[in-house]
Amino acid sequence: MASSVAASPPLCVLLFLLSLRPHPTASYTSFVFGDSLVDTGNNNYLFTISKADSPPYGIDFAPSGGQPTGRFTNGRTIIDVIVQGLGDSSFPPPYLAPNASSSSTIFVGVNYASGASGILDETGSLFIERIPLGKQVQYFEETRDYLVGTLGENATGKFLRNAVFSIIAGSNDILNYLEPSIPLFEKTKLPPVALQDMMVSNLTLHLKHLHELGARKFVVVGVGPLGCIPYIRVIKLVADGRCSSAANQLIQGYNMKLSRRIQELNEEMGPETVFVYANSYDIVRELMQNYLRYGFENVDDPCCGLSFPPLLCFGQHDGNSSSVLCKDRAKYVFWDAYHPTEAANIIIANKLLDGGATAATPFNLRRLYTSRS
Ligand SMILES: *[C@@H]1O[C@H](CO)[C@@H](O)[C@H](O)[C@H]1NC(C)=O
Ligand SMILES: *[C@@H]1O[C@H](CO)[C@@H](O)[C@H](O)[C@H]1NC(C)=O
Ligand SMILES: *[C@@H]1O[C@H](CO)[C@@H](O)[C@H](O)[C@H]1NC(C)=O
Ligand SMILES: *[C@@H]1O[C@H](CO)[C@@H](O)[C@H](O)[C@H]1NC(C)=O
Repeated sequence: MASSVAASPPLCVLLFLLSLRPHPTASYTSFVFGDSLVDTGNNNYLFTISKADSPPYGIDFAPSGGQPTGRFTNGRTIIDVIVQGLGDSSFPPPYLAPNASSSSTIFVGVNYASGASGILDETGSLFIERIPLGKQVQYFEETRDYLVGTLGENATGKFLRNAVFSIIAGSNDILNYLEPSIPLFEKTKLPPVALQDMMVSNLTLHLKHLHELGARKFVVVGVGPLGCIPYIRVIKLVADGRCSSAANQLIQGYNMKLSRRIQELNEEMGPETVFVYANSYDIVRELMQNYLRYGFENVDDPCCGLSFPPLLCFGQHDGNSSSVLCKDRAKYVFWDAYHPTEAANIIIANKLLDGGATAATPFNLRRLYTSRS
């Protein structure tokens, strides 16, 4: 009997693992797309200047013992916190890491996110290599081919129906637009409204493509208040305690168009498909306005790196010998000039996971993850 079975060992392993799926631990699957807010190491494998593979990045990331992993923060990303908040113990591995699509890890999901990337293909070109959203979706197609090759179409479809697809993108498209243009690369700038519309329509194309490939549960995260991050406040010469209102108006206009589009997609796609819109803008604004109440002491400066150009965060920071790493990382909202600290990520993630309609619509991420079909 065994000799007549043509299945390759990976298939046996997969079917065995699949049979274990109904058990309560590690039972959620996450496919993650986006930028450095959720990159867990893909850029380690690219030729790019957008990298977080050296200390002090990762200094508070317990699973690596404080070693850098490629996460662009001191500890866990928002997705890491959400995954753990659901009771899962392993994080979706970066797609470019060896064995990311292997029988032992595939049920956790895969992370395709890449620092410096955007919704639009050309975003981040100054950083040289990065994986634009469209390419990330192509990589997911390869993961899907692997699943179909081992599980078959029907089981793959069932598996993907219950997986959650999170897209955290758009920040770099906006940042690139706001940056002073370099004369050599100068081209006529789109009007803000055209940028917003192009971002929404291209993101919609990627969402529809994922839907065609079998995705049914989506989280689409809006762009946060980038007008308040140290980098933008420096290049726009904005005083402490203030934000660039021009930047934030551009973002709010984009978020409004995106959330409307998400609502339309929910109506168009029928009851088997859910798009949750995650309102990161209002969550982060509220956190920043009430930072003292959340236990933070500094909402203006990056914990790592100086608060004036070039704002870079790198180098060995052994104990108190460092002048560019803050003393208490839990008291800062910003880790570096662009990214929140783990402490801020925990607050944001918990609101997305368990918060009400101001955080996520039509419902929160715990409900999205735990619903089954
Ligand atoms: C990847 O797979 C190869 C062969 O299956 C194995 O030797 C190696 O240890 C794996 N690497 C990781 C990081 O799991
Ligand atoms: C937007 O999507 C269209 C259609 O797929 C594509 O041709 C175009 O290159 C995309 N634009 C950018 C800037 O990525
Ligand atoms: C896959 O599903 C279709 C439609 O439900 C069914 O007709 C077909 O027999 C299934 N294929 C396998 C291999 O189970
Ligand atoms: C940090 O400061 C303390 C007391 O000022 C000193 O004992 C210790 O050696 C310093 N550590 C490092 C790594 O410089």
